[in-house]
Amino acid sequence: MNHETVLRANQKFYDIVAADYRRKESYAYSKKIIKDVTEILFFCASSAPSNQSFLDFGCGSGFLSEIIFKHQIFQNAVGIDISSEQVKLFNEKFKSNNYKAIVSDIVDTGFESNSFDVAGCYSVLHHIYDYKTAVTEITRVLKPGGIFYCDFEPNRKFQRLMSIPIKIRRKFIDKPPEGLDDLENIAEYHNNFEPGIDKDHFAIWLSQNYEILKIGPRFPKLFSTLILKVFFHFNWSFSPCFYIIARKKM
Ligand SMILES: C[S@@+](CC[C@H](N)C(=O)[O-])C[C@H]1O[C@@H](n2cnc3c(N)ncnc32)[C@H](O)[C@@H]1O
Repeated sequence: MNHETVLRANQKFYDIVAADYRRKESYAYSKKIIKDVTEILFFCASSAPSNQSFLDFGCGSGFLSEIIFKHQIFQNAVGIDISSEQVKLFNEKFKSNNYKAIVSDIVDTGFESNSFDVAGCYSVLHHIYDYKTAVTEITRVLKPGGIFYCDFEPNRKFQRLMSIPIKIRRKFIDKPPEGLDDLENIAEYHNNFEPGIDKDHFAIWLSQNYEILKIGPRFPKLFSTLILKVFFHFNWSFSPCFYIIARKKM
């Protein structure tokens, strides 16, 4: 497996499922999550050098940018995604010069260095073979003092604890569309080939270039969410996903 293989699997998979993806994975886009993410985006804007420019990294059809547009949190949003179908949906939705998406690999964007106030990626890093290369690119394009925000990344501790229930869920409940099993398997690289992302290791690595502002749990909308939330008070292993907000050092 290498970067190119995982990148092309993402491109093909999301080109096929683009129109239906968020409805099928509604557990990641619940009302509660939208409310939380909205608050986080306001926090990011207030912590950033200005609220001029937002980079929607792995934008898909524009989940983060829709929230930004609705509440006018930033003046401009630029989306970037490898799937041309996702980018088409994004651009059809906003029809505004202040909200534009382009097709590109996020590990090499071609954007000017030090140009964005905030870079957000929702459910994206675990799709990248070496997600640190993507974050290195974010670091390059963020202004000094700019904010990095990632969310809905799979928590390694949870994946280790719940490996069997997760496998059963994938086999019988959260199945990919007919015939797309192999593509989805590769596209979700850090769910299927690696057991999630180790948030502590990631935060320590980030600290070389960032001040960590917040690390929090993220609970998809599942039948078991309430029970997981109760157990989470005792142990991080019960949060399926996590988010991190960090400020680029000056
Ligand atoms: C789970 S979707 C999330 C999309 C969007 N953030 C949302 O929440 O609706 C992951 C997205 O990452 C994109 N992606 C994966 N690897 C990429 C890469 N190397 N460069 C650009 N986009 C990539 C996929 O095409 C897909 O649209």
